[in-house]
Amino acid sequence: MSDSGDTDLGFVRFGDTGLQSSELQFGTWRFGKETEAGNLEIGEKRAKELLDAYADAGGRYVDTADIYGGGDSEVWIGDWLSDRDRERYTVASKIFWQTREGDPNSRGTNRKNVRDRIDGILDRLGTDYVDVLYIHRWDDQTPTRELMRTLTGLVEDGKVHYLGASTLRPDAWKVAQANQLARDEGLEPFSVLQPRYNLVDREIEGDYLEFARSEGLAVCPWSPLAQGFLTGKYDREDGLTGESRASESTRWEQNYLTDENFDLHDELDAVAGEVGASPAQVALAWLCHRDGVTAPIVGARTVDQLEENLAAAAIDLSEDQVQRLTEAKEGPYAGL
Ligand SMILES: NC(=O)c1ccc[n+]([C@@H]2O[C@H](COP(=O)([O-])OP(=O)(O)OC[C@H]3O[C@@H](n4cnc5c(N)ncnc54)[C@H](OP(=O)(O)O)[C@@H]3O)[C@@H](O)[C@H]2O)c1
Repeated sequence: MSDSGDTDLGFVRFGDTGLQSSELQFGTWRFGKETEAGNLEIGEKRAKELLDAYADAGGRYVDTADIYGGGDSEVWIGDWLSDRDRERYTVASKIFWQTREGDPNSRGTNRKNVRDRIDGILDRLGTDYVDVLYIHRWDDQTPTRELMRTLTGLVEDGKVHYLGASTLRPDAWKVAQANQLARDEGLEPFSVLQPRYNLVDREIEGDYLEFARSEGLAVCPWSPLAQGFLTGKYDREDGLTGESRASESTRWEQNYLTDENFDLHDELDAVAGEVGASPAQVALAWLCHRDGVTAPIVGARTVDQLEENLAAAAIDLSEDQVQRLTEAKEGPYAGL
């Protein structure tokens, strides 16, 4: 176990807060998750090996959610943390999705649900507080004042340190409105956004990233490798050529296996060749070089994948390489 102060992965400032985040965060969505064929993507033993590998590389920021693995992700992280120095780790969790069939109050961010759910999170993690609590999605049924007052209460009670919104681009104006209300009423604002962002999913470029910058919000992208597409194991003609949970599922592939995305991947392969790195490492390094991005949330199914991905933090891309990758697929505002 290595909780020592000597780390390889560095730290970056977490938006305008006083907190420092690992430059690559570790995501645990796939802990206890079943593939469409009903097989476990990552079981408890592997989950703890992955957490060990992340910590050994100096990683100190773990991202989870109360629904990941039906709660198993938080339980396994909590069990793992109990052997470590909790204070050295930043743990983020999320609430939103319905947990009790037939009970509409167990979904969303109404006061009753939020207060109930935070206690479940702390219980499973075996900790007195989470460093970051995200609303997993925006809940249009709950008034913004009710939301911000409830979340502020959790911060004042010491159960949560920072507030985040895991949200897609169309919800950015709602976060802006909520933070204005928080400022006007002396409440705690959101400090961090968690959007999908990677070389092929570019919908947050433009106003969303501009908004985050202007508000001083941290931005921690999810699915930074487009769920595995950006790792070089998919071929334009042959589809999947490497090992993947996706060999048991076809649904998500339809989204990514397009000519436009393979054209982008050709440029990714070219830059990877120039810097002597893998496509996955270059895709992660590109995100780290993007203005406005704080720290991508790295996922991995095996320790080998994780170690490969964490080494991306040391890869330096030239301005020209970043620009070529950026322009290899058009963002939403290209040509305007
Ligand atoms: N807020 C939200 O709504 C939301 C949504 C999604 C995710 N997240 C967060 O973001 C984290 C990361 O998301 P993600 O798992 O989708 O990330 P990702 O990095 O885009 O995809 C991870 C998957 O890609 C494959 N992979 C990763 N590294 C590889 C490598 N070096 N070589 C070959 N294959 C590799 C693995 O799958 P295979 O080996 O099976 O192909 C792995 O499970 C999650 O754990 C979660 O914490 C949040």
